[in-house]
Amino acid sequence: MQQLKELLVEQLQDLLHAETQLTGALPKMAEAAHHPKLKEAFQKHLVQTEGHVERLQSAFGLLGEKPKPKPCKAMMGLVEEGEETIEEGREKEPLAADLALIAAAQRVEHYEISAYGTAKCLARQIGELDCARLLTHTLGEEESADFLLSAISEPLIQQASLDDAGATVNLETVGENGRKKSAGNGTKSTAKAGKKSEEAVSRR
Ligand SMILES: [Fe+2]
Ligand SMILES: [Fe+2]
Repeated sequence: MQQLKELLVEQLQDLLHAETQLTGALPKMAEAAHHPKLKEAFQKHLVQTEGHVERLQSAFGLLGEKPKPKPCKAMMGLVEEGEETIEEGREKEPLAADLALIAAAQRVEHYEISAYGTAKCLARQIGELDCARLLTHTLGEEESADFLLSAISEPLIQQASLDDAGATVNLETVGENGRKKSAGNGTKSTAKAGKKSEEAVSRR
């Protein structure tokens, strides 16, 4: 087998093992998440991840290779860290626990983005364009998942910052697209709490 194709197959074997581990880890992350949007994001990404495994199997087929996983030690470590995060989160405030879950999950997404980026380039380079298309499709879903986690974390960080500043704001107001539902109300308490939060952040 030519060296670039061999390298691509090795990358896909690593990814197959990584993705398979994630199908076991994501339900635990979803169960541990407090905020409904985070729970939903993990559940949605579980369904996508099952699709990633199928897409990888198709990619092996296109290359005329058997889908054989190769132990991905990096993902084993990230999944182990994710499990630790779930355990440690039981002792944390819900907001802090959710933010820690997001941090763990984004490490996973960034690993996948890196791996699919490399695999896609290799597939293109050797003219395996159908295979490259499959990998690009998955890469897009990994990037979207990462983007969604960032969007979910923004209001949670804002809320945690307000909590640290001693302000009282209803978590229900943390809502759509990383914006406060009450933003249009311009309530004094929110404005005051926001100022306190800015002061608290600037003191650090
Ligand atoms: Fe994936
Ligand atoms: Fe992913």
